[in-house]
Amino acid sequence: MCGIIGYTKKNSEDKLTTGKILSDGLKNLEYRGYDSCGIAVLKKTNNNNDIVLKKGVGKVREVCEKLDFNYIDGVLGIGHTRWATHGKVDKTNSHPHLDCIKNIAIVHNGIIENFQKLKENLVNLGHKFSSETDSEIIAHLIEEHLKKGKSFKESFRLAIQELNGRYAILAIKKDEKIILGAKFGSPLIVASNEAGNFLISDLSAVENYSNKIAHLQDGQLIEINDLTIEVTDLQKNKVDIIWSFRNIQKNEENNLKFKHQLLQEINEQEYTIIKTIESNVKQSREFAEQIIKSRQVIFIGCGSAANVSFLASVLFTKIAKINASYCIASEFESKLPVLNEKDLIIAISQSGETADTMEAIDSAKKIGCKTYSIVNTEESSITRKTEKTILLRIGPEKAVCSTKAVTAQIAIIYQIANYLIDNEEFNEQIQNAIKNNSFIFQPDFSQTISMLAKKIVDKKNIFIIGTAEQMPIALECALKLQEVAVVDAFGFASGELKHGPLALIEKNTPIIALFNNDDTDKFVQSNAIEAKTRGAYIIAINAKDDSEFDFKIKFNQAFGFNTILNLIIIQLLSYHIGVEKKLDVDLIRNLAKSVTVK
Ligand code: AGP
Repeated sequence: MCGIIGYTKKNSEDKLTTGKILSDGLKNLEYRGYDSCGIAVLKKTNNNNDIVLKKGVGKVREVCEKLDFNYIDGVLGIGHTRWATHGKVDKTNSHPHLDCIKNIAIVHNGIIENFQKLKENLVNLGHKFSSETDSEIIAHLIEEHLKKGKSFKESFRLAIQELNGRYAILAIKKDEKIILGAKFGSPLIVASNEAGNFLISDLSAVENYSNKIAHLQDGQLIEINDLTIEVTDLQKNKVDIIWSFRNIQKNEENNLKFKHQLLQEINEQEYTIIKTIESNVKQSREFAEQIIKSRQVIFIGCGSAANVSFLASVLFTKIAKINASYCIASEFESKLPVLNEKDLIIAISQSGETADTMEAIDSAKKIGCKTYSIVNTEESSITRKTEKTILLRIGPEKAVCSTKAVTAQIAIIYQIANYLIDNEEFNEQIQNAIKNNSFIFQPDFSQTISMLAKKIVDKKNIFIIGTAEQMPIALECALKLQEVAVVDAFGFASGELKHGPLALIEKNTPIIALFNNDDTDKFVQSNAIEAKTRGAYIIAINAKDDSEFDFKIKFNQAFGFNTILNLIIIQLLSYHIGVEKKLDVDLIRNLAKSVTVK
């Protein structure tokens, strides 16, 4: 996905330049995509308002400094930080994009599915393209309609009508002191504060302001200037704006107390797990009540959220004896034949903007299923798409690798499952499990894990094995190691080791064995020993008898919440291996924080 921002300045005497406002907003949107960025500012030059375009490859901070964004001032501007979907990562493919005569500048978040056909038509009409992107056609479509004598606003509307796909688009034109926007499938918010009027991908772009805000709906167009804001639909009917007020303070928790954002968020889990539980007692009970009323409950999500969905299916069966199932959101079509209006779909998502998950929700709603969600980002698309939402309330998660959101989601799953069996001690038990094991958040434990990281940093493979609820955790641990440590890590049921993966074991291949502190441990124990006899280096987390293993960690009384504790250990290990490899552990190569494209 990408981050977009548009800004019209209210007070021309304001010392804060338009370039500075845009770059500050892009810095807060950087977690949405960070391979390149750029701005286009409408700047007064010799009685004209020309478009000044600056863009480059690299993270927002680097490009802003290199191209002096902060020194560009003007009546308005648009900005973009990119996660490449069409066209390689280079300056030409970065946004904003221009038309042939540099009269129009646009930024886009999403995918234009019919861009090839549109591009062919435009090329046949003589348009010259500079990039390989789908987005650039938007500028040329507007140009084509302008050539036919249409106004900027009408040309924009006609161009939007030709697009198929998902988009949040902003456009500006030389000598027109307005920004035009359009929304379909990707988020677009209008905000107004003392500095100016904004069009943004999410509220983080206007931190430190008290804002009047409104979420645009699919199929809506918007026009902003320094004084007015007007919303219409594609048929030019005026739409009333439903404003709300938000005091977006800079997230103090985000003032880094650690070397990296990721390490900060790993350590915040000492408090966020409890915070989410305490914030959602009533909501978790409501979810439990609806689960009992439903014919079946299916958890859906992508990436880490898919692993949490898998874990939910195991825990609801084990704890509440409910036949819950899960489905990776991008595979949800395969479930449709067995769904009906009596079923409950619970979507799990940190960002609340993941396209695959949103499409799955839409498919479920078409069948009449009830759709609930467990989300971290307030006011995100999924919270507005589903009937009920549990908000994690753990503060923004900025590192691309999800950590505190995952353990908070897991805690909520435990909470709902325990409420289903009327276990009123649950809140106290999970709090004690974290308190009894707070050593895992201490610097000397981090040092211990750093030593382990150094020992295995050069290993080609790392395997994680577990059984029952530790099996989905093994998958999540593998994902952390893949993302942050960039190592071939594989998680699987410990019983599966001897059915194939054992062939991959070489001397000192690290195998992380996740134990559960229950009678299933005997299987993991024997599977780990089978690997040990073939030369593997066994990292045993919470094994009763770890005498034969190479690296051992033991927990204090965890009340059965070993899933969360095991995962935090491997998050920390992934972090230290990534640091040892001198990787960017916060803004991971090739990834984005939330994938708003299919
Ligand atoms: C998590 O570490 C990954 N970055 C990624 O798999 C993520 O979990 C996935 O894209 C889903 O995102 P969401 O929770 O915001 O929907």
